[in-house]
Amino acid sequence: MAPRPAGRIPLPLLPHFSAKRSLVTCRYRCGNQCAHEPSNTSSNTYFGDLVERVLTRRGALKAGGVLALTVGGAAALSGTAAAERTRPTGGSGRPVPGTDFAPVAPNTEDRVVVPDGYRQNVVIRWGDPVLPGAPEFDFDDQTPEAQEKQFGYNNDFAGLLPLDPHGRKHLLVVNHEYTTESHMFPGYDEENPTEQQVRTAWAAHGLSVVLVERGRDGLVPRMSGYNRRITLTTEFELRGPAAGSDLLKTSADPTGTRVLGTQNNCSGSVTPWGTVLSGEENVHQYFANADRITDPVAKRRLERYGISGGPSERKWERFDSRWDVGEELNESNRFGWIVEIDPYDPNSTPVKHTALGRFKHESASVTIAEDGRVVAYSGDDERFEYIYKFVSNGKVKPGRSAHARRHNMALLDSGTLYVARFTGNSPEEEIDGSGELPSDGAFDGTGEWIPLASGNRSFVPGMSADEVYVFTREAADRVGATKMDRPEDIEPNPVNGRVYCALTNNSNRGAAGNAGPDEANPRVHNKHGHVLEIDDDPTGREFRWNLLLVCGDPQDPGTYFGGFDKSQVSPISCPDNVAFDRHGNLWITTDGNELGSNDGLFAVPVTGPERGKVKQFLTVPIGAETCGPVVTDDLVAVCVQHPGELDGASADNPASHWPDGGSSRPRPAVVAVWREDGGEIGAS
Ligand code: FEO
Ligand code: CA
Ligand code: CA
Repeated sequence: MAPRPAGRIPLPLLPHFSAKRSLVTCRYRCGNQCAHEPSNTSSNTYFGDLVERVLTRRGALKAGGVLALTVGGAAALSGTAAAERTRPTGGSGRPVPGTDFAPVAPNTEDRVVVPDGYRQNVVIRWGDPVLPGAPEFDFDDQTPEAQEKQFGYNNDFAGLLPLDPHGRKHLLVVNHEYTTESHMFPGYDEENPTEQQVRTAWAAHGLSVVLVERGRDGLVPRMSGYNRRITLTTEFELRGPAAGSDLLKTSADPTGTRVLGTQNNCSGSVTPWGTVLSGEENVHQYFANADRITDPVAKRRLERYGISGGPSERKWERFDSRWDVGEELNESNRFGWIVEIDPYDPNSTPVKHTALGRFKHESASVTIAEDGRVVAYSGDDERFEYIYKFVSNGKVKPGRSAHARRHNMALLDSGTLYVARFTGNSPEEEIDGSGELPSDGAFDGTGEWIPLASGNRSFVPGMSADEVYVFTREAADRVGATKMDRPEDIEPNPVNGRVYCALTNNSNRGAAGNAGPDEANPRVHNKHGHVLEIDDDPTGREFRWNLLLVCGDPQDPGTYFGGFDKSQVSPISCPDNVAFDRHGNLWITTDGNELGSNDGLFAVPVTGPERGKVKQFLTVPIGAETCGPVVTDDLVAVCVQHPGELDGASADNPASHWPDGGSSRPRPAVVAVWREDGGEIGAS
């Protein structure tokens, strides 16, 4: 294919480490987001589609010409997949390095299933000790004081940061996305949670930092001075252009710069300067009594973020009025950010970055442009929401000196925030909602990054810069961003520089009153999701894109596996988190498999003859979702989130007995997987 546009430089300052969702999961994880109409009721899709299609037809040559200057040829606007297939990587009939393992078959077993020749260990479970003095976990005697020293609930993102040059000791950093009280507390009364249960749940949110040591039996947690729990009562600093805004002030924090805690931390990433970014996602569900708000602007803005109605699911407002928007309207504005944690400094104050905008951040992932500026990509995980990127003003400083770290940790404070608009290159009538490819053989096209704000300057008519950062969804509506099918993880591939985004599903695509299919979201009632590949100039305004995968049953004609022979791939449904191995293969976890089997972790080459050959590496126990993941040369780690979280199950009636077996109740946990012979993951 054509040469890549100016892009990333290989400057990792750290080594590269590289069953359908139950109703109870919907309820506790997302606040039943999918049971409501999507929050995005803006008309911009229809307007945007119209404009995009008119522009596509009238200005195809012009657009192609502009891109030709950038990427070296208008012909590259289509046929990306075909061009990729001619690359020799992985030739000679041998599997692509990193993916040479016998795929795990779809199953519904109550265990973690790994390929033949691989072993696994449970690294750490909910309730295991993190800090000195943590009591042994006791299901029947949980306290906030104990939980503050123990590993939190529902692990999602995992990152491994090196502590020694030999690769033996690492800091494991894990997000604890949400609590499922009915599965945590025996005898839980959802109408009358006790204060002890509520405060325990606050302590079970947040993040954990744990030293782990690599040995013959996998990864083993150790007590250390680095170990840390961050919870809903840990102080955070709000930074960036909206810090101190009136929109962020509360009676407890008249400065608008200090927030207690982080919540619903979904996915994340390790930055090149050795910190962790974590996305505050479904934060709406924790706030009560929006029905007391009468001001129409405030009400509209709450609703745009899914905050409506009376009491909250967890009833936290009974124990702290900050969860009651009728009492503290601005408290909800202080959640929904990208947070940054420095795991190497257990005394550091974690940061919320206002420059990256406020929405339901799945995550944010950073790459370094050729000129040294940093670029962070982020998805807003709700149906019909948007994809964003942030380009810093400052440039990264190499090295690990205190000065360089301080400098780099301020890079996300100033820059420009953009939102994506996608334009397809196939005729509208060929995007019929079935998922079958248009006549040019690809769902593909071009796109542009629309600026929203930079520092104190707003690019959105009618909104101040503070309003753009705090009500970013509204800003994106106004500029005609493209409504996507739930953007989850979005990460740059460190080998080929392209950016990959999991769009997990969207049952409402094409439903009455909702946006219909477009080339970037080509299926109506999209149950299985798709994976987007973006060829971006990190600091530029234009990009090319194509769909690498249109997920589902390979026998379904409305699926696509990068053009690879569909009789030879593993079925995959509802892609969620992504990672890359050192060969540049894409690893994908799934959440809510709609094909009747457990969720899993999959590897797929993105170049060469095996581009699109999806292979399942592991599956997780029943009711669980696969999160993380971490893929290194000789170890894979995943977070097993919400095992046994099936409808009708509870702490008193467990549906899973993983990981402890017998009649035990399930516990979310981190699992490490390695080759029995100690060899490289997926090597021939
Ligand atoms: Fe927490 Fe978007 O998954
Ligand atoms: Ca096309
Ligand atoms: Ca996720």
